[in-house]
Amino acid sequence: MEFLSDSPSPRIAILGFGYIGSCLGAALAERGMSVVGIDSDASMIAGLRAGRRAVPEPGLAEALAPLVASGRLACTTDYDALEDADVVLITVGTPVDGNGALLTAQLEEVCRQLAPRLRPGQLVILKSTVAPGTTRTLVVPLLESGGLVEGRDFGLAYCPERLAEGDALAQLRELTVVVGGCGPGSTAAAARFWKAALDVPVRIVPTADIAEIVKLANNWWIDANVAMANELARFCALFEVDVMEVIAAANSLPKGDGRVNILRPGAGVGGPCLTKDPWMTWRTARDRGVRLRTVETARRVNDAMPEYAYEVLRDGLAKMGKDLASARIAVLGAAFKNDTGDLRNTPVTGVVRALLAAGAEVRIFDPLAEKELIRSQVGGFPVDDLDQAVRGADAVALLAGHRQFRDLDLERLRRRVAMPCLIFDGRMHYRPETIRRLRGLGFGYRGIGR
Ligand SMILES: NC(=O)c1ccc[n+]([C@@H]2O[C@H](COP(=O)([O-])OP(=O)(O)OC[C@H]3O[C@@H](n4cnc5c(N)ncnc54)[C@H](O)[C@@H]3O)[C@@H](O)[C@H]2O)c1
Repeated sequence: MEFLSDSPSPRIAILGFGYIGSCLGAALAERGMSVVGIDSDASMIAGLRAGRRAVPEPGLAEALAPLVASGRLACTTDYDALEDADVVLITVGTPVDGNGALLTAQLEEVCRQLAPRLRPGQLVILKSTVAPGTTRTLVVPLLESGGLVEGRDFGLAYCPERLAEGDALAQLRELTVVVGGCGPGSTAAAARFWKAALDVPVRIVPTADIAEIVKLANNWWIDANVAMANELARFCALFEVDVMEVIAAANSLPKGDGRVNILRPGAGVGGPCLTKDPWMTWRTARDRGVRLRTVETARRVNDAMPEYAYEVLRDGLAKMGKDLASARIAVLGAAFKNDTGDLRNTPVTGVVRALLAAGAEVRIFDPLAEKELIRSQVGGFPVDDLDQAVRGADAVALLAGHRQFRDLDLERLRRRVAMPCLIFDGRMHYRPETIRRLRGLGFGYRGIGR
């Protein structure tokens, strides 16, 4: 049987309509496909139907609203919507426990719901990040428990999601999709699907296991690279050298198929992926008797960065004759990275907690995150706008470099804060000429390794 045979515009169901699911749903529906997002979170689905934003990704709410209104994109909690789909994408959460072991409850539940509803010819694509072998040893038997057989009646492929939050919609239109099917028919069908659906490059790998490891390798690389950048920053600080000058020059060296590409240091690594996927990799290896030291070292280096950021800020203030215990700090950006409002595992929490413990007053402004969530997940005192955050501040800590913060009016800032004020650049945002200008205006400036 050929899966997804000749339909020019396949109907798509997305199981798990959270961050990834809703971004994918918007991208596919915008390309003209009929999409249904299925999620067990009834209040989130009701909110989406009412036009409320569920996921703090820039541009997503604006993209979803007309698609939902026109009916091209439907959202439901009803699994029966699966039966009409030609392609089923699985994008449920795949968290790990405190020891890095993959928790498969969400994945198992959707497979149990899908199994009795599968029909011949359907193509199922798992996108959630999983440990090697999960598609083959967990998903296949669960789906086959409904009576149909993979490779004969339905297709199954693993295609990792590799987008980065903050730029998700653009990346979905460009990123190469890695395809590893459970068999040749599934692989070919999934490759055809992504080419037709998003018109993106496709990279076929021989098995689903390989595709699963590709995703883990990508996040292993990112986490280890950032850890190296973070330690390089701490190294440069010992010599009062700007780490960004070092990185810019070091990255000019050709190596392998490209160049050295040291990423940016920063006040910490957070989010829903880099904080867990490397541990999933580590744990899978440990269960087989192998200890992956680069994984655990990188995780520990990156986890220590909020504390280091706090120390740099504290010492910078002290050098300006200010005591943290009576200082007012404006935190700009609460999210775990630039241009998203996602607060999951945000390293800003660690910085804010340390500041509060030292007795500082901390006001936080993040235009992309909800105030209530900032209050419960990060702490401090969330405010509505930049002016409220910076008024009377002894230090302004840029902890997520959102677009809104990129061109701050420095003269205006100077009139609002309590000069001399420290600018703490936790995201290596400012270029040397701006740092010189800041200093010329009487600000202090500190960054990670700057
Ligand atoms: N967020 C990212 O930047 C990113 C990037 C690449 C890959 N991933 C991977 O993609 C997957 C999804 O991540 P996410 O950030 O979108 O997670 P998420 O928590 O935002 O979304 C998961 C959704 O699945 C829903 N769900 C859970 N159980 C369900 C069930 N039984 N039936 C229907 N829906 C159910 C949840 O309600 C939730 O809305 C994870 O494996 C993650 O590691 C995430």
